[in-house]
Amino acid sequence: MIHGVVKEEYSRFIRLYPDYGKTKSIDKLRETEFSRLDAQGHVYLDYTGGSLYGESQIRGHARFLLDSVLGNPHSINPASALATELIERCRLRVLDFLNASPEEYVPVFTANATHALKLVGEGYPFCKGDIFLLTYDNHNSVNGIREFDRVRGAVTKYIPVIPPEIRVPEKVMDRYLEEGESARNKLFAYPAQSNFSGVQHPLEWIDRAHERGWDVLIDAAAFVATNRLDLGRWHPDYVAISFYKIFGYPTGVGVLIARREALEKLHRPWFAGGTITGASVKADQFTLAPGAEGFEDGTLNYACMPAVERGIDFIESIGIDKIHTRVMCLTGWLLERLLGIQHGNGRSLIRLYGPMGTEGRGGTIAFNVYDRNGAVINHDVVEERAKRWNISLRTGCFCNPGAREMALGLTKDDLSECFNPPGSRLTNNEFMLCIDDKESGAVRVSLGVASNFNDVHSFLGFIEEFRET
Ligand SMILES: Cc1ncc(COP(=O)(O)O)c(C=O)c1O
Repeated sequence: MIHGVVKEEYSRFIRLYPDYGKTKSIDKLRETEFSRLDAQGHVYLDYTGGSLYGESQIRGHARFLLDSVLGNPHSINPASALATELIERCRLRVLDFLNASPEEYVPVFTANATHALKLVGEGYPFCKGDIFLLTYDNHNSVNGIREFDRVRGAVTKYIPVIPPEIRVPEKVMDRYLEEGESARNKLFAYPAQSNFSGVQHPLEWIDRAHERGWDVLIDAAAFVATNRLDLGRWHPDYVAISFYKIFGYPTGVGVLIARREALEKLHRPWFAGGTITGASVKADQFTLAPGAEGFEDGTLNYACMPAVERGIDFIESIGIDKIHTRVMCLTGWLLERLLGIQHGNGRSLIRLYGPMGTEGRGGTIAFNVYDRNGAVINHDVVEERAKRWNISLRTGCFCNPGAREMALGLTKDDLSECFNPPGSRLTNNEFMLCIDDKESGAVRVSLGVASNFNDVHSFLGFIEEFRET
């Protein structure tokens, strides 16, 4: 319901972002599928942390579980056969959702995006002289791959992202992609959308990297929730996704989508139940199962596979393009309003990290709040106050230390100090305090499938409270 001053604001918003009107069907869903938000007066702005599930997903899945006799897959008993059938159906549904050809791509089910990334890191055949190339802007679950390449004598190279937009200039990217002519194996990893700044790094880099002999790993965890990833158009070697980031439920299921040859290139460092066609203790041998199975350790979360299919159905019934349009209209308005707020003395209330407009970005916005004298208000204070407004946002570095370091201008010296003496184990709090004479993190709000104008309006009202006359 929109009335009074809000109505005037809404009219201005609609004049500037008329496409929002084309997403009206989502307002209805807010009442039917996400009614818990307004019933609890909850302003949810952490979609990059995790999306929300619709009520029908949960009801449908509960009904399915109540009606089905499901058993551990890979046997021929009826309960097992049903589970196997549902897993295989789900594989095809995931490929279809991403327009990926089953001839080209294999979906390997994992626990989450992190697990998918780890499968690539631990299996990629890094050797001496090989290169792992990645952008500063990456989630720690990608950064961590460097530890696999280093122990095998390969080199890690980071491509800097440049503020204020926190992007990689194209010429810089070309220079890095030209490297490693003599390397046998070269892996290049970047996020399709930054979970820090919302920047969407160009998918065009995939082809350019391929032309220069790189294998390409796309972290699509933050991108796929509000953007169409078309694997008929783009052909990365590996893609990592967590399903809860797209449709909230189930948590604990992700996928590594790998090109068939790229999957063959990965060498598993071990075998486990579920990944072999045969193993012997006496003969001290094993044979890895072909394709996805060889990478799916133990028993899959088989009771939740139908919920993945249902989640995809839910998103497709709304339309990913419609979700995208809506989120980008709200993002544009939020950015514009946020950047316009000033203290009485004319100083800006916030400093944004990332693009100021909607071009080449998604609905994830990182910033800090400043007082009238230009001193930063610690992000913890902002989060604590947001809690009182029943606003869910996120603060810190969001597991993306490289983007934070570039955005906040932290130096190697600032950061090295926090790891001294070597081997010391700081708690996260101690680490934050160590760099706390500077801004140690940021505030992040992110929009998604159930976001509406009122959410943005309430959030702006909350931020305005920091304004000093
Ligand atoms: C860009 C990006 N990559 C990877 C991850 C890791 O996802 P998960 O914790 O589900 O493994 C996240 C989670 O926030 C993310 O935003």
